[in-house]
Amino acid sequence: MEISESARNGIDMPLMGFGTYQLATAQAELCVYEALKAGFRHIDSAEGYNNEEGTGKGLQKGIKAAGITRDDIFLTTKLFPGYKQWGAPEKTYEQTIATLKTQLKNLRLDYVDLYLIHAPLSELRLEQWNALVHLKESGLTKHIGVSNYNEGRINEILDAGLPKPEANQIEFHPICARVDLTRYMKENSIEPVAYSSLAPLSTWRTEEGQGGEVLAGIKKECQKVTSEIALKLKVSEANVLIRWGLQHGYSVLTKSSKPERIHENLKVFDFEIPGIDMGHLNSLSLNQAIAWAASGLDPMGAAPTLK
Ligand SMILES: NC(=O)c1ccc[n+]([C@@H]2O[C@H](COP(=O)([O-])OP(=O)(O)OC[C@H]3O[C@@H](n4cnc5c(N)ncnc54)[C@H](OP(=O)(O)O)[C@@H]3O)[C@@H](O)[C@H]2O)c1
Repeated sequence: MEISESARNGIDMPLMGFGTYQLATAQAELCVYEALKAGFRHIDSAEGYNNEEGTGKGLQKGIKAAGITRDDIFLTTKLFPGYKQWGAPEKTYEQTIATLKTQLKNLRLDYVDLYLIHAPLSELRLEQWNALVHLKESGLTKHIGVSNYNEGRINEILDAGLPKPEANQIEFHPICARVDLTRYMKENSIEPVAYSSLAPLSTWRTEEGQGGEVLAGIKKECQKVTSEIALKLKVSEANVLIRWGLQHGYSVLTKSSKPERIHENLKVFDFEIPGIDMGHLNSLSLNQAIAWAASGLDPMGAAPTLK
C-alpha cells in the first residue's frame, strides 16, 4: 500500500483519521473543525461518544472553512450494540436501522461512509449485522464493518453466509500488535483500522477520569524504544507510533483536543521508520489491550453466545 497524504485504502478511506472519543459536545465541534482545517479528511465518530451533534456542527463549519464538499470527507460512525452486563438493552434489527437514522440527524448528514458495530457485545450481533447490510443497500452508509471483532466473531458472519465486513477497527500499537488477526484480515480483504495507537505514550489520556493511568507500568520499555527512534528520525514520539501503524498497512485514528497536536499528528508522510527500528517496535508486543482497560471490559473477548 502506498503511504501518502492523498492515499486511500481499499474502501476509499484516507489513511489518517481524526477520532472523537472523550470530547465533550462543544469540544467535538471545535476539534473536528480544526482537524478539517489541518487537513484531516477522515473523521471517526460513535453513538457511544455522546457528542455527535458537536461533530455534526464541526463538520459543517470545517467543510466550509476548508473549501471542500461533503464528498471529500470519509465519515465513520458506530452502533452501540447494547450490553446486558451494563444494563444497556441489546438493539434489534429495527432499532439498529432507527439508530443510524438518528445519528445521521445529529451528524447533519444524508449518509455515512462506514457504519460499524462498535463491539461484539450483543447476542443479537448477527441480527444487527443483517440490519447493517440493509442500511448499505438503502444507501444510508457506503460501507459496513465491525470493531473489536476477532477471527472467531468475523467467522460467525461468514459462516452465516452474510456479506463480509469491509473493515475491522481494532486497538493496534506496539504493545498490542495483533499479528495473526492482521494477517487474517489482509487475507480476507478486510481493511484494518487502528485505534488508540498513542496508548503507549505517557501523555495518553492524562486528564482526570480519562483512565490513562491503568496499565501505565507496562509502557516503559515501549516508551524508551519509541523515544530513541523519535530522536534518531527527528520526529515526535506520537509520529513514530502513527507511522508504525501506517507501515503495517493500517489506517490510523488519532484524537487530540489540542490544535498543535492535531496538526502534528498529520506529519507522518515525509519520513519512514527503517526496517531495524520496525523490528525493535515489533518485538515489544505483549498482546495487551489498553484502551478499554479502565472500563474493566475486554471488548474483543466479551462476546456472549449467539442467540
Ligand atoms: N472502536 C473502539 O472500540 C475504539 C476505542 C478507542 C478509540 N477509538 C477511536 O479511535 C480514536 C483514537 O483513539 P484514542 O482516542 O485512544 O486516541 P489516541 O490518538 O491514541 O490518543 C489520544 C490521547 O493522546 C494524547 N495525544 C494526542 N496527540 C498527541 C501528541 N501528538 N503527543 C502527545 N500526546 C498526544 C491526547 O491528549 P490531548 O487530547 O490532551 O491532546 C489523548 O490523551 C478515538 O478517538 C476513537 O475515535 C475506537
